[in-house]
Amino acid sequence: MFADRVAHLEAEGAYAVLARATELERQGREILHLELGQPDFRTPPHVARAGSAAIEEGLTRYTPPAGLMKFRELIAADAGSRRGVTIRPEMVVVGPGSKPGLFFPALALVAPGDEVIYPDPGFPTYHAMIGVAGGVPAPVTLREENQFSFDLNVFDSKISHKTKLIVLNSPANPTGGVIPLDDLKHIAAQAQKYNAWILADEIYSRLVYDGMESAPSIASIDGMLERTVIVDGFSKAYAMTGWRLGYMIAPPALAERLELLMTHSVGCSAMFTQYAGMEALSGPQDFVREMAVEYEKRRNRLVELVNDIPGVHAQTPQGAFYVFPNVKSFGISSKEIQRRLIEEQGVAVLAGTDFGPAGDGYLRLCYATSMEVIERAMEKIHTFFERL
Ligand SMILES: Cc1ncc(COP(=O)(O)O)c(C=O)c1O
Repeated sequence: MFADRVAHLEAEGAYAVLARATELERQGREILHLELGQPDFRTPPHVARAGSAAIEEGLTRYTPPAGLMKFRELIAADAGSRRGVTIRPEMVVVGPGSKPGLFFPALALVAPGDEVIYPDPGFPTYHAMIGVAGGVPAPVTLREENQFSFDLNVFDSKISHKTKLIVLNSPANPTGGVIPLDDLKHIAAQAQKYNAWILADEIYSRLVYDGMESAPSIASIDGMLERTVIVDGFSKAYAMTGWRLGYMIAPPALAERLELLMTHSVGCSAMFTQYAGMEALSGPQDFVREMAVEYEKRRNRLVELVNDIPGVHAQTPQGAFYVFPNVKSFGISSKEIQRRLIEEQGVAVLAGTDFGPAGDGYLRLCYATSMEVIERAMEKIHTFFERL
């Protein structure tokens, strides 16, 4: 009945677990939420005010499909200076969230039969968009022993002249891993050799820890800006998930195609949301730093509590807001542990397999929640594993 291109689509694990959590809450159970990847902070007040003032002033009309020129200029300057590259405003296409920045480049670049390399475990939209574009998925395992960067031997065995696109996500969801500059250089050289494009999902670029200024970007490597689409946005850095605001940065000819996809699909992003985005970029940036400092404290505590559990261990991830503990020693699938944790202990987490088969034996714990919730949830998780 339906076209093949949607047959492979599945719900995101986070939404499925949230639906079960909401059902249990309706029955009166208390659920501790470590599943959904969204900041628990509120949008900074000056940003929210700029958005509501824009509505009050009637700035509620269509904008050019790629966004207001002033906004594109601000994004180009900000994204360029953070990566040490020159980005021109016509390379910026604003979208409702950063997700269009994943789907549209895939549609614009990948022809049926082209291969696409992407991380496993990785954000579920990668697998979804590759299938819709008619591409052939070529997952590359992220290895715990490489701090969840690509296994470069596997990467080298998968890349070929059939590879059209390589999807990178650093800092990563679900592992929190940051791809080291040396790995990026290796991937860049291979992309140049095989004439492949890079889709660099850098949505967590502002959330890095241990004194790191920002995660290295492949776009900063010589000769890479012309074959890279950078994807970034406001959801994570400015706690603006529900505003739906993000952007993609691509060489001008590709940006033109992406703008046309925007024109004929969503039309444009909300005008008042773009005003809020302009305030986020041009106003004080203390909020981003303060939020990252708070996340770092929670990360440290969460990793400590995870590693206190016999049979469970986790690395200290350098970015994003996830910890990805290894629970392989129990010999039970991630999905079953996820199910039992919510049913028996009232703790909502995600199974590593929600992010691809290589996630089996891992759980994703999101620490974008209060220290109190983290500590209470970890007490219950500890009890659960002790009794197994
Ligand atoms: C890796 C990654 N990319 C993209 C997104 C989408 O974010 P947005 O809210 O900007 O569409 C998310 C959201 O969870 C994410 O984790």
